[in-house]
This record gives sequence, C-alpha cells and structure tokens, in this order.
Amino acid sequence: MKLSRSWLATAATVSGVCALEASYDYIIVGGGTAGSALATRLSLGLPQAKILLVEAGPSALDELRINVPGLRGSILGSGYDWNFTTVPQGSLGGRVIDVNRGKVLGGSSAMNYLCYDRASAPEYDAWRELGSPGWGWKTMIAAMTKSENFTGPEDGDRHGRRGPIRNYYNRVLYPIIRAWQPTVAALGINVNDGGSLSGAPVGVMFQPTNINVDKRTRSYAANSYLPLAGSNLEVLTNTQVTKVNLAKRGKKPSCATGVTLPNGTVIRASKEVILSAGSVQSPGLLELSGIGQSRVLQAAGITPHIDLPGVGENYQDHIRVSNTYRLKDGVESFDNLIFDNAGANATGEMQKWLTGERSLYEYTTAAYGFMNWGQLGVAGAMKAAAASVVQSTNVVDAKKLQYLNNAQVPSVEILYEANYVGAAGYTGGRFLTLISTVMQPFARGSVHINPSNPQGKPVIDPRFASNEYDIKGLVEAAKFSRRIAHTEPMRSAWEAETEPGEAVQTDAQWRTFATGALGSFYHPVGTCAMLPLKDGGVVDADLKVYGVANLRVVDNSIIPIIPSAHIQTAAYGIAEVAAEKIIAAHAGSSKSENACNCK
Ligand SMILES: Cc1cc2nc3c(=O)[nH]c(=O)nc-3n(C[C@H](O)[C@H](O)[C@H](O)COP(=O)(O)OP(=O)(O)OC[C@H]3O[C@@H](n4cnc5c(N)ncnc54)[C@H](O)[C@@H]3O)c2cc1C
Ligand SMILES: *[C@@H]1O[C@H](CO)[C@@H](O)[C@H](O)[C@H]1NC(C)=O
Ligand SMILES: *[C@@H]1O[C@H](CO)[C@@H](O)[C@H](O)[C@H]1NC(C)=O
Ligand SMILES: *[C@@H]1O[C@H](CO)[C@@H](O)[C@H](O)[C@H]1NC(C)=O
Ligand SMILES: *[C@@H]1O[C@H](CO)[C@@H](O)[C@H](O)[C@H]1NC(C)=O
Repeated sequence: MKLSRSWLATAATVSGVCALEASYDYIIVGGGTAGSALATRLSLGLPQAKILLVEAGPSALDELRINVPGLRGSILGSGYDWNFTTVPQGSLGGRVIDVNRGKVLGGSSAMNYLCYDRASAPEYDAWRELGSPGWGWKTMIAAMTKSENFTGPEDGDRHGRRGPIRNYYNRVLYPIIRAWQPTVAALGINVNDGGSLSGAPVGVMFQPTNINVDKRTRSYAANSYLPLAGSNLEVLTNTQVTKVNLAKRGKKPSCATGVTLPNGTVIRASKEVILSAGSVQSPGLLELSGIGQSRVLQAAGITPHIDLPGVGENYQDHIRVSNTYRLKDGVESFDNLIFDNAGANATGEMQKWLTGERSLYEYTTAAYGFMNWGQLGVAGAMKAAAASVVQSTNVVDAKKLQYLNNAQVPSVEILYEANYVGAAGYTGGRFLTLISTVMQPFARGSVHINPSNPQGKPVIDPRFASNEYDIKGLVEAAKFSRRIAHTEPMRSAWEAETEPGEAVQTDAQWRTFATGALGSFYHPVGTCAMLPLKDGGVVDADLKVYGVANLRVVDNSIIPIIPSAHIQTAAYGIAEVAAEKIIAAHAGSSKSENACNCK
C-alpha cells in the first residue's frame, strides 16, 4: 500500500467533468479494523483493481501508547479517540456514558484491550437462522482463523497460523492471575483451557492476546494487514468522508458513484463503495447520503433517497460493572505501571520493553470466565426476567430468548485483572478487579446523525439497563464476582472489597451500585444489521445496502445480534468473508454491469 500524497493531481478541479476526477474501482470508507483488513484482501485478490481506503484519523504506526501492550487504554480520551458519549440514560439517573472509538488508521483495533476470543457456535449460526444464507459458524471460523497467526504449541483449540494478526497466550502473568482457574472451578465452573476458541466458550480459562511475539507490539489492522497490500491500494488519512454519492439508473436500484470529501472534492468509484466506519458511524454515513429513516433525514435537512427504517436502529452493546479488591501487602499487581508510569519501576520496565527485554509492559488481560445462568444458580429467575421484557415481534429478542435454553451459549462474562479498573477512580494502592458483563442484554437502542450538526457527533442512545433482565443480570453477575473473590485461593490475596464495598448487601443496594457504576464494554453492534428488510435489516447476506446496487457495509455494525465475546475477531472475520464475496463478484461481472455511468 502507499500512503496517498499526490493523488489530487488527478482529482476534480472542474465539477461535473468526470474524466478529470480521481477515480478508483473500489473506495472503502474507514481504515479501521474491518476496513483495513478488507482493503488489504481486495488489493491482493484483485491486483488489477485500483482501491482507495479513506481514514478520518492519522497513521500512527510509531505511537507507543498503541504499540506497547501494557499501555492499553491510554489513548482513550486522546486525539486518537472520537470521544463520543451517549445521551443521558434514563435508567442510569441521567448519566452519560463514554462511547470510545478509534480515530486512527487501524480504528478501534488500535485502541482495544487486546482480548482475543470468539463467541459460541450457535451465535454465529444465528446470523443465518435470522435470514442470511451462507453465514454461520462454519463460515466465520474459517474467516476468523484466516486472519490469525497464533504462536504456541498445539493445544487442541482452533487457531489460524498463517494470517496477519499475531496472537499468543500472555507470557507475563502476575502470581494472583494464576489463582483464577482453581478459584472459579471451586464454585463448580468447568475449566476450559485450550477449548474456548472452538465455538464452545463456556467455562473458565486463559485466552490469547493479539501481540506480535517477535516485536512484543500490539498486532492490529494497521500494522499487520495493511503492510501486506500491493501498490494498487492507496490510503488517504486525516480525511473524513462526508457522504456517499448516489445516482439513479432508470427504475433499477440506485447506485453509488463515489464519495465526497469535506472540501467538496468528489472521488469516483467505478465498481463499489464500501462503508467500514464502524457501528457508530456507518449508519450516520448512510443517513448523510440520503439513506435511512425519512424522519431523521428531514430533521437534518437531507434529501431522502432511500427509505430504510433500520438504519441506526438495533444498537446493542455489552454492559459491565467492576468489583475491586485492595491487595494485601506483598501481593504484586500491575497498578504502578498504569498509575505511576513516571516512577522508577515503570520507567525501568518501559526501558526493558524498548530494548527488547522481557517487560511487565507485555501484560494484558489473560483470565476469562464465560458462564450461563444455570452455573450461577439463577436460570429460572433470569428466564422469567427475559420473558417479561422480550418483544415477541422482534426476531433478535426471540433469538436471545432461545439462547437462554442453550447451555453452550454464555450469558455472563467475568474478566479478572491484576490492577484497578473500577468506576469510583483510583486512589492509590494495589488491586485485583473482577469485571462482570451481561452477554446478551435485551436493550436495543439507536444511533442517528445530530439534526443540528449532521457532520458532528452522533446522537447515541443505547438505552442501557432499560429493562429488568439487563439490570438483574448485571446484579447477579456482580454478586457472583463477589462469591469468586471470597473463594480460595483468591480470597487470601486481598484485604478489603473497595467497590461496591461490603455495605452493599441487599438487591436494592446492588441495583443502586450497578446503575451508578455501569459502563459500556465498547462492543456496539447491529446498527446496519444484516437481516431481512422486513425485520429491520439494512444490508442483505452479501452485505449490500437494500436498494443500492453497489454499496456495502463491512464492519461490526452488520452483526444482527450481539455475540458473547469481545468482537475484534468478528470484525476481521466479516472483512475476510466480504473480501471473498467482492472478489468473486468482480470476477463474475462485466464492466458495464457494476459501473454507474457518469451523470
Ligand atoms: C476501548 C475499546 C476496547 C476494546 N477492547 C476489545 C478487546 O479487548 N477485544 C476485542 O475483541 N474487541 C475489543 N473492542 C472492540 C473492537 O475493537 C471493535 O469492535 C472493532 O475494532 C470494531 O471494528 P470496526 O471495523 O467495526 O470499526 P473501527 O475499527 O472502529 O473502524 C472504523 C473506522 O472508520 C473511521 N471513520 C469513521 N467515520 C469515517 C468517515 N466519515 N470517513 C473516514 N473514516 C471514518 C474511524 O476513524 C475508524 O478508523 C474494544 C473497543 C474499544 C473502543
Ligand atoms: C478527545 O478529547 C481529548 C480531551 O479533551 C482531546 O484532546 C482530543 O483531541 C479529542 N479527540 C478528538 C478526535 O477530537
Ligand atoms: C507467524 O508467526 C510466526 C512467529 O510465531 C512467524 O515466524 C511467521 O512468519 C508468521 N507467519 C506469517 C504468515 O506471518
Ligand atoms: C481536499 O481534501 C483532500 C483530502 O483531505 C486534500 O488532499 C485536498 O488537498 C483538498 N483539496 C482542496 C482543493 O482543498
Ligand atoms: C518492578 O517491580 C516488579 C515487582 O513488582 C519487579 O519484579 C520488577 O523487576 C521491577 N522492575 C524494575 C525495572 O525495577
């Protein structure tokens, strides 16, 4: 690939004269996780095609806050973060929740916490069962392992070993982290080491992390996929696409002719435009282009072209809450490397990282538990809560209800960290944290452009904890986290629970704590859902936007129903599947079939 500098030499100076405009076969909007992977695969698979990848943020390949695994989290709220927030959440007393997203080449894969895992097989099969032929576990596991290069001995699990994204099991583990499996197993949970990536994640285990074992750097879309691309891929950074341009073709579906940049420059696409701007911004780009709910478009003063009610709806995200425990004297933690990073120990460890020695800055999340409600002893109560909130006319809700009868599908995740990750704020000391997450909350919210500033920050309303199942689930998961903390050998490591604190005992107190401490787990999906049109779908099984011949969405916004996992593997998998589809379509098409004639 080449970072574009001189492309404008061929770009439009006289509007309406197509021959003078910069032109590509494919334009991909958003050089994030899926967009960078897709651009690379198209470049390799279609060596004759000219491909442009446009990213709003900069390239930051030398940025230590991205590259050093242990500095994960440090670019949240920085210039590499879009800094979105939700609207005030009614069920959280009007609190506003941060919605962090990467604004940098590599997108949120540059910002994420390097948890590398997969959901259960039935959850990928659900995509097909909800109406998208060809999708499912078989398709996605092939695609996800195609993107992966795992380093480590055969452990019986499913790992790719030839793909771009490097991963391995953490080699830096604090002694307290080793207490994880024996502690959780003492509560009757199965140990699932070496089996959790094969579509059956229920249990307690260590999981891999996406680090390049040779360089000890984060392995992400910008430094692991893009360098593989050919010179037929141009990458334009620091450029936020304002809209997709559409043209009519008689009575046939509309078609995309290219994109417009903030300064009015038009770039043409002779084959396809692909949106990979992520779950928060891909729906907004459709709206800015005249595709979406007419009410939303009209309020923003945008001429509606295609009425597509599903755009920006069906927003789903994981909700989480943390229990934190102050460690006893002498128990080591990672806290000083985060909160005292100018101290002697941290600077010494950073020096080791920089000179290639084994460093504590390689530490990332290692210890996971994925459980169903039965394992927590609350299956009946949670099913009853679900039955009370499910909307029988909604196919996504109905599928989530089915999951509750399938023991292979986790309902809860608990993450175990050797440092403080609480909501109250760090006030010194060493901690362990248990992060409790509801895997399939029933809240379905929305994201739409802001009518008073359509190009600005979108209006995000996830409706967090707006129903009984979601809030009860969070409370039950956090109560179970307390049981874990009180079980040996973990119990011997800490001296006090600081969040929520032992004063919290009744369900009413737990609810107050949970609504006050709830955060997003950064996994929004579903806002350009791959579903039938009648069920609120935005794209079909080929990821094509309904009503437009040559406009696709390829990112996590197409996931119709939130999976029980961290979802970067899904983003890479979706990009791999999409690349195969686009390459196959290219081979089967004549030039006139796909191209829109200049208007
Ligand atoms: C803080 C955080 C922690 C996370 N931790 C984990 C984890 O540990 N493990 C895990 O599996 N998942 C994790 N995730 C989730 C995972 O990283 C994301 O779901 C995934 O990266 C999303 O990929 P995407 O391609 O859908 O979107 P993104 O990677 O966000 O890509 C969208 C890209 O589009 C660009 N863009 C947007 N609008 C425009 C425009 N108009 N013009 C040009 N460019 C535009 C953006 O700048 C961005 O680069 C985390 C996410 C966050 C934010
Ligand atoms: C996000 O907020 C921080 C802190 O206010 C700011 O420095 C940064 O520039 C913001 N990011 C963007 C992309 O504007
Ligand atoms: C996969 O990772 C190993 C290091 O473990 C490396 O030697 C190898 O070159 C990588 N393969 C590819 C295809 O990148
Ligand atoms: C328009 O924006 C592009 C992309 O950011 C930039 O390269 C170009 O110089 C701008 N063109 C004009 C005419 O300002
Ligand atoms: C930092 O502290 C840890 C103990 O918590 C120790 O193992 C490590 O060697 C120290 N590193 C440096 C560079 O002092």
